[in-house]
Amino acid sequence: MLSVRDVSKNCGKGRRTVPVLQNVSLSVDSGGFCALTGPSGSGKTTLMNLIGLLDRPTDGNIEIGGTAVEHLTVDQTAELRNRVIGFVFQSFHLLTRYTALENVALPLLYRGVSKVERRNMAITALHKVGLADRMTHRPEELSGGQRQRVAIARALVGDPALLLADEPTGNLDSRTADEVFSLFLKLNVEHGLTVIIVTHDPTIAARCPRRVVMRDGQIVDDDSSVPKRVVSA
Ligand SMILES: Nc1ncnc2c1ncn2[C@@H]1O[C@H](COP(=O)(O)OP(=O)(O)OP(=O)(O)O)[C@@H](O)[C@H]1O
Ligand SMILES: [Mg+2]
Repeated sequence: MLSVRDVSKNCGKGRRTVPVLQNVSLSVDSGGFCALTGPSGSGKTTLMNLIGLLDRPTDGNIEIGGTAVEHLTVDQTAELRNRVIGFVFQSFHLLTRYTALENVALPLLYRGVSKVERRNMAITALHKVGLADRMTHRPEELSGGQRQRVAIARALVGDPALLLADEPTGNLDSRTADEVFSLFLKLNVEHGLTVIIVTHDPTIAARCPRRVVMRDGQIVDDDSSVPKRVVSA
């Protein structure tokens, strides 16, 4: 599904250029579930932005679903991103004046999907995250966990193969965080979605089938080589 090979990323300009990622390599199989952990400033978000095709590496190669992204044009990159990748962020990024249904349907607007079809696909996505009874609520009428589930439904609505989540439970209390995390596991187990999740939460990291640890812009630990535990959703 994903292959990152010898990727480096420098940030800043001119003499202020600093290496943020150095020779990072990471492969995640289709249907894989991987936690990305490490101290603040270790490069997790930078790596997620590269994997999510929101940014380009200074050096190295990235392949998503068998496509080497290096030589793609800006439009081709955007097309690949829209088709294959769903994003979930710590702070939900929902539009406050729109209902859950409208928020979830929004990404389909840019794909030329008809209004009826957009509505049907958004309803299906909201069912998947257990929010069938909250579709006409606006974000302010929803709890934090429900808001994040709307954001997850929005990430799922285009049927991506890869879900990238940067601290998706960072704004939630521990019980709600646990519930939202269980949803990621369920989507992985039941729908075969490949998931990469950045987390600072050791309890959540411990529930992931695989943990990759970053420090100072490098991967310093990856327990993918040890036999996987059985995880339940
Ligand atoms: N545009 C930039 N210019 C200069 N330095 C940058 C830039 N973007 C990121 N950095 C630096 O790169 C390092 C990694 O940042 P990144 O946001 O990837 O860390 P992180 O692991 O996601 O941290 P956190 O856990 O706090 O979210 C930090 O030291 C940051 O200051
Ligand atoms: Mg970050």
